[in-house]
Amino acid sequence: MPLTKAIIDCDPGHDDVVAILLAAKHFDLLGVTTVGGNAPAWRVTENALGVLELIGRPEVPVARGAEGPIIGTLPRAGERVHGTSGLDGAVLPRGSNRVIAKRAVEFLIDTVMANPGTAVIATGPLTNLALAMRAEPRLAKSIARLSFMGGSATWGNVTAAAEFNAWADPEAAHVVYSSGARITMCGLDLTRQAAVGPETIARFRAVGTRTAAVVADLLEHYRAAAERITGSPAVPLHDPCAVATLAAPELFTFARANVTVELRGEETRGMTVVDQRLVLEEGAPVPEGMPRPNCRWAKRIEAEGLFRLVEEALAACP
Ligand code: BDR
Ligand code: CA
Repeated sequence: MPLTKAIIDCDPGHDDVVAILLAAKHFDLLGVTTVGGNAPAWRVTENALGVLELIGRPEVPVARGAEGPIIGTLPRAGERVHGTSGLDGAVLPRGSNRVIAKRAVEFLIDTVMANPGTAVIATGPLTNLALAMRAEPRLAKSIARLSFMGGSATWGNVTAAAEFNAWADPEAAHVVYSSGARITMCGLDLTRQAAVGPETIARFRAVGTRTAAVVADLLEHYRAAAERITGSPAVPLHDPCAVATLAAPELFTFARANVTVELRGEETRGMTVVDQRLVLEEGAPVPEGMPRPNCRWAKRIEAEGLFRLVEEALAACP
């Protein structure tokens, strides 16, 4: 059955903006929950409100979530590419929309339990989801599909081994990956296949709407900041991939795999260990003695298809 209802749990964040845009276009968006990640929770919450105003969807409820990880304090690594505001490079409109009184954990539990068939798209650290799964043990199995941008089957971005969203709260990632939820993992090995350079950003701008101009300004800032770190002129459009696995699964190649999260390694804390000894097609039996796959691993994306989805969503906005 195609999924129609979704919540996005995010930390906008330049690429989160495009993820919200796609989620609002393709799903009955029941809410946006925020989590400290690319910037502190209060900032990413303001950013989420601004994005919804920009795209003409101020009625979507926004619930503020965790300030920082389950253990320790919020790392500031996100600032390097997203700036202190989390969204440097453009000014978003301020509207009349305000955060709702419910906090993210409560909102996730109440909304998923009351709306069977709801998908959750997670594009920030998994703190809210882990806390919600601990508070409501039925939640993990009640999420129709949890599409997570995070982790990596190859190398990391914030450290040699770890990707930012998994590294920012490894204990939360561990709770979620051990929860039995129907997870789709969009790691860096996938999102690096969907990198946008100046030409693709120019294509987005050429759509001509006000939203397209703001998104292009944001992406150009993000691209240039990333280029100063990586030397590459193209930056992965990470978070939109997690929406697209649900909205346009035909763009992807999936396999089933077992993924665990490294919690102790001195050099590897926050690394996702994707067991590539056993990568199974959907429905294939698990040989005895091998770990059971706990996620659907998105391995390949047809990037041009994703860029077309972004253009279509920009065209549909004010
Ligand atoms: C992830 O980290 C954040 O900086 C991005 O928004 C994305 O969710 C990529 O590692
Ligand atoms: Ca993000």
